[in-house]
Amino acid sequence: MSRLAGKRAAIIGAGSVGEGWGNGKATAVLFAREGAKVLCVDRSQEAAEATAELIRGEGGTAETLMADVTDAQAGPQVMERMTALWGGIDILDYNVGISQAGGILETDDAAWARVFDINLTGAMRVTRAVLPAMRAQNAGSIVFVSSLAAVYSAPYSYVSYEVSKMALVRLAKSVARENAPFQVRANVLLPGVIDTPHVAAFVDSETDAETLAARRAAMVPMGRQGTAWDVARAALFFASDESAYVTGIEMRVDGGLTA
Ligand SMILES: NC(=O)c1ccc[n+]([C@@H]2O[C@H](COP(=O)([O-])OP(=O)(O)OC[C@H]3O[C@@H](n4cnc5c(N)ncnc54)[C@H](O)[C@@H]3O)[C@@H](O)[C@H]2O)c1
Repeated sequence: MSRLAGKRAAIIGAGSVGEGWGNGKATAVLFAREGAKVLCVDRSQEAAEATAELIRGEGGTAETLMADVTDAQAGPQVMERMTALWGGIDILDYNVGISQAGGILETDDAAWARVFDINLTGAMRVTRAVLPAMRAQNAGSIVFVSSLAAVYSAPYSYVSYEVSKMALVRLAKSVARENAPFQVRANVLLPGVIDTPHVAAFVDSETDAETLAARRAAMVPMGRQGTAWDVARAALFFASDESAYVTGIEMRVDGGLTA
């Protein structure tokens, strides 16, 4: 229970859009269980506070920051808060992401721009803000949460999501390459079919939950959907020093879907 002992982590999108365990929420809780001090960042103060309360309830250390990644100030706000709280940052987990249904003919400029702003530009904004401190201390790990949609076509279209998530993979590699001389690492997760509240909120709100879950599980060679904990445990590997020589890679968390 000490794989992140002494580390200071910011989880961007640490709440959950619904009841149950989202990827960001599980990641925040797992990081705290492993000894990290965790700043739960979310545009919803209520959602961030719910995660922080869970952590404190288990005896961990958590604080909250209400920030929207579409705000140009979001990055500086995260860095300022981490500095004020704990004197800096060791781990950034960028988990925020939204989906927008629609192929190219159904996607207007505004929808495209919004998805890119949240899924990609927000990641760049926050990364840009934390890098100087990570470089100065010659240590840091950045974990981006992309999606299998970056490399695998689902049976439905959501082109803005797919393209923004692929760009996020490239962002991770660019950040990794540029910052390797400073011992700052960047890696990216590609979760597959994960059972989180995000799915009902963004992917399919019309099909009843049981039918949707069975349909999604049937897609996966392992015969089950992933859980937020599967994603969190993969993030933990990237965040911890166990992956000290691993940078610029994507990890598929997909139960064999693309094997
Ligand atoms: N569930 C899946 O099947 C699946 C699969 C692949 C990838 N993903 C990715 O995992 C991530 C979602 O994980 P989750 O389950 O924690 O998601 P979630 O949708 O529950 O969101 C987590 C938090 O992000 C916050 N948020 C949304 N927009 C924000 C913004 N503009 N600024 C700040 N906070 C914002 C929400 O308030 C929420 O509390 C996304 O990046 C998604 O693309 C999910």
